[in-house]
Amino acid sequence: MNPNKRSAVIAGNWKMNLTRPQAKALIEEIKPLVAGAACGVVLCVPYTDLETALSAAAGSNIKIGAQNCHWEESGAFTGEISPAMLTELGAEYVILGHSERRQYFGDTDETVNKRLLAALEAGLKVILCVGETLSQREEGKTREVLSRQATAALAGVTASQLSNIIVAYEPIWAIGTGKTATAAQAGEGNAVVRATVAALYGGEAAEALTIQYGGSMKASNAAELLAQPDVDGGLIGGASLKAADFAAIVQAASR
Ligand code: 13P
Repeated sequence: MNPNKRSAVIAGNWKMNLTRPQAKALIEEIKPLVAGAACGVVLCVPYTDLETALSAAAGSNIKIGAQNCHWEESGAFTGEISPAMLTELGAEYVILGHSERRQYFGDTDETVNKRLLAALEAGLKVILCVGETLSQREEGKTREVLSRQATAALAGVTASQLSNIIVAYEPIWAIGTGKTATAAQAGEGNAVVRATVAALYGGEAAEALTIQYGGSMKASNAAELLAQPDVDGGLIGGASLKAADFAAIVQAASR
C-alpha cells in the first residue's frame, strides 16, 4: 500500500454463509476488535443478513455491503435484487464480478458492466473483482485478462464515479484453495489493474484508486501482501468468518 496516496480497505466476503443469528453474533464479536482500525472495514453479507448486519454494525466503523445486484431498478426478474433495494436498506457497498458469479451464474464482462453502472447510479460503492484462471496464468495471459476485465467493467464510468469504486484483484486459483499468490504476484496483478486504469483515466486517478488483493488472504500472510506498493487492502473470504482472524488482517492493514 502507498499510505501517502491511498488508505487501505479490508472487506469480508461472507459468500453463502451465516444465518441471521450467526451474522449478528459475528459482527458483535468483530466490532470491538476493529474499533480502532486505521483502515476501512466492510462486510459483504448475504442478502438475507443485510438488515441484521446493518443494525448490528450501526454506530460502528463497519460498513455493510451485498455480494451482487441486478442492473434494472425493478421488474420481472425472479430471484434478483436491485441496487435501489440495497440502498433503501442502508447498504453502502456491493461486490460485483466476483469470479464465483462469473463461473457459476453466467456473469460476463458485459453483465458486470451493466450491474456496475446501475449500482453507481443508485449511489452504491462497488468492489469490482477481476482475476485470471490458473490456465490463463500458465498460458501467459494474466495481463491481458486483467486488463480486458477491468476495461470492460469500467466502460461508461466517469472519472468522478471512479472514486466510488474499489477494484479487487482475485486470482481464481488462489480463492478458497489455501494457495495464496506470492506477494510479488499479488503486487504485479494489482499493478496491471492500476496501469489499465491509468491508461483509461490518467495517472492521478489511477494513483488514487484503492486496489485490494483477494485469495486465501489471512492473518499470517496479510502483512506481507499489504506491504506491496499496489496492494491497498484485501477482499477476504474464509478468514472473514472468524472474528479474530478478520480483526488480525484489519490490524495488519492499520499499521
Ligand atoms: P478466500 O479468502 O476464502 O480465498 O476467498 C477470497 C474471495 O473470493 C473473496 O472474495
